[in-house]
Amino acid sequence: MSQSYTLDEVGKNKSGKAIWIVVDKKVYDVSSYLKEHPGGPAILKNVGGTDATRQFYEAHEPTKSNVKKVLKKLHIGVIVEKKKEKEADKPSAKKGAKKKQAPVGTTADELARKAAEELQRKDQENAQRKIQEELDQKQQDEDAQKKLQDELAQKLAEDEALRLEVVAKKQADDDVAWYYEASAKAKEAEKLQQEKHKEELEALEEQ
Ligand code: HEM
Repeated sequence: MSQSYTLDEVGKNKSGKAIWIVVDKKVYDVSSYLKEHPGGPAILKNVGGTDATRQFYEAHEPTKSNVKKVLKKLHIGVIVEKKKEKEADKPSAKKGAKKKQAPVGTTADELARKAAEELQRKDQENAQRKIQEELDQKQQDEDAQKKLQDELAQKLAEDEALRLEVVAKKQADDDVAWYYEASAKAKEAEKLQQEKHKEELEALEEQ
């Protein structure tokens, strides 16, 4: 069963042999993990004894299996607002008749623990939802960008088709002009030929 700690208690374990940190209301003893930490020992020492939830989420993908595995290994307890058990235990220890209240104390502790767990679960859900939202947003952005690219490509293709059409039309116009010019020249040549022929005939007749 998880131990309950207050933030003050965690704060006492910030250097030396014991370095604890809090992430999502859970307490982790990272002392044995400093050297292995891929982000380096210093970064963990710097946040020793504090709630490093924000820094943790900034640096990790919490759903990644290697991260989850280490978290599970280093988990030593949960954060509670105040420790009721100690005050509750003392009077009950003095008064023999109130010994029966021990389970009540346990229940209060249990409730506090459950509340803390619930809080931590919600925090985790929120963090995961945030990550999911960010992923969704990224996907949407990518989709929008792809759509734009597609539209641009389509537009370019249309422009190219139009350009080719204009070129083809101009070519056709040029061909027609060339044809008219050529046939006019041919007619001219034929006419000259006929005139020449006629002159020759007339010359022959005169002889
Ligand atoms: C119990 C707490 C922590 C555990 C179990 C843990 C574990 C890990 C693991 C497994 C990785 C490798 C991640 C990967 O493969 O993508 C990592 C990377 C990293 N961690 Fe932590 N970490 C903890 C706390 C922190 C805190 C509080 C910080 C910052 C203040 C931090 C900063 C980093 C950084 C910057 C990296 C990236 C290193 C790199 O990619 O070169 N970590 N951590």
